[in-house]
Amino acid sequence: MKYRILGRTGVKVSEIGLGTWQLGGTDWGNVDEKDALMILHKSVEMGVNFIDTADVYGMGRSERLIGKFLKETKEKVYIATKLGRREWIENNGWPAKYTIEMVKRDIEDSLRNLGVDCLFLEQWHCIPTEMLKSGEAFELVENFKKKGLLQHWGCSIESIEEGLICMEHPGCETLQVIFNIFRQKVSTDLLPVAKQKNVGIIARVPLASGLLAGKFKKGHKFSEKDHRNYNADGTAFNVGETFAGVPFEKGVELAEKIKEILNPTDDISMAQLALRWILDHDAVSTVIPGATKIEQATSNANASLLSPLSTDVFEKLRDLYKKEIEQFIRGKY
Ligand SMILES: NC(=O)c1ccc[n+]([C@@H]2O[C@H](COP(=O)([O-])OP(=O)(O)OC[C@H]3O[C@@H](n4cnc5c(N)ncnc54)[C@H](OP(=O)(O)O)[C@@H]3O)[C@@H](O)[C@H]2O)c1
Repeated sequence: MKYRILGRTGVKVSEIGLGTWQLGGTDWGNVDEKDALMILHKSVEMGVNFIDTADVYGMGRSERLIGKFLKETKEKVYIATKLGRREWIENNGWPAKYTIEMVKRDIEDSLRNLGVDCLFLEQWHCIPTEMLKSGEAFELVENFKKKGLLQHWGCSIESIEEGLICMEHPGCETLQVIFNIFRQKVSTDLLPVAKQKNVGIIARVPLASGLLAGKFKKGHKFSEKDHRNYNADGTAFNVGETFAGVPFEKGVELAEKIKEILNPTDDISMAQLALRWILDHDAVSTVIPGATKIEQATSNANASLLSPLSTDVFEKLRDLYKKEIEQFIRGKY
């Protein structure tokens, strides 16, 4: 595993981290506790030291499993969590504004779930653009940073516009953004600014919910409890979080074309090459693929050790994006 600095936090994080939405057990089908703990242990054995979670993944289950894992491991692991969507879920809509009481409750619950005294990184969890513009949410987390309940804060965002707004605040040390071969605009419109401002980039949905592993066939049916079923067209939340916003059947077709360019072998999988493409952008600090199986987590971690992709592969993927992918991206971008 190789390590990079996470923006102004100054902390060395693994190039490949671990996303743990799956460990909530609610939006990707069930992942049982034993497997969840094995995914965490195996990842850390492979050198992963950065784990992303959120208070709402399984309404605390993902955080609690990580808390249990932290008691079992001797390794130093940096946990990034999120706040802000619990209000949206519990009240069926966004609050008019976040209050200090709401934020205090969310932070204290995350601390309790994770079993720590101070959060390493707290991220606003895709709250509305208008709330980012007003900046009030930022001042609230600043307040808890001063009180010592969190070390750093950042934002998980849905669009480039939102990323640019967040980076205006000097306290925002990280941005979590959907970045993968389907969403190449990020590399030209967001990453250069993040690099210049030294904001750490955390790349989420790197495999477009599994499409970029090249494993799905047209007509594939996902279980009812899987967001790739119930949010395939964005009926539950931002469509970009599911298949990176590409309609599933089109995504399968495009993944076939991407596979031909990436040219995976028996030893190097398409998923690993898709992760490598992200790592070849030096403004990215860490990529956080999610995993429902232990083998996925171990294989993903190894993408850090692959050689960079060639300029020829990069150009072909850029060309494909411009001609055949960009027009199909739905949702905020
Ligand atoms: N709003 C937000 O802030 C937000 C939104 C989305 C995600 N996230 C974070 O970002 C993380 C990553 O995004 P994501 O999990 O949505 O999408 P992702 O990483 O693109 O896709 C994860 C899925 O891809 C498949 N996969 C992973 N590794 C594989 C491999 N080596 N070979 C074959 N298939 C593989 C698995 O699908 P199967 O389950 O079918 O095996 C896995 O569940 C999340 O876990 C979460 O921490 C944050």
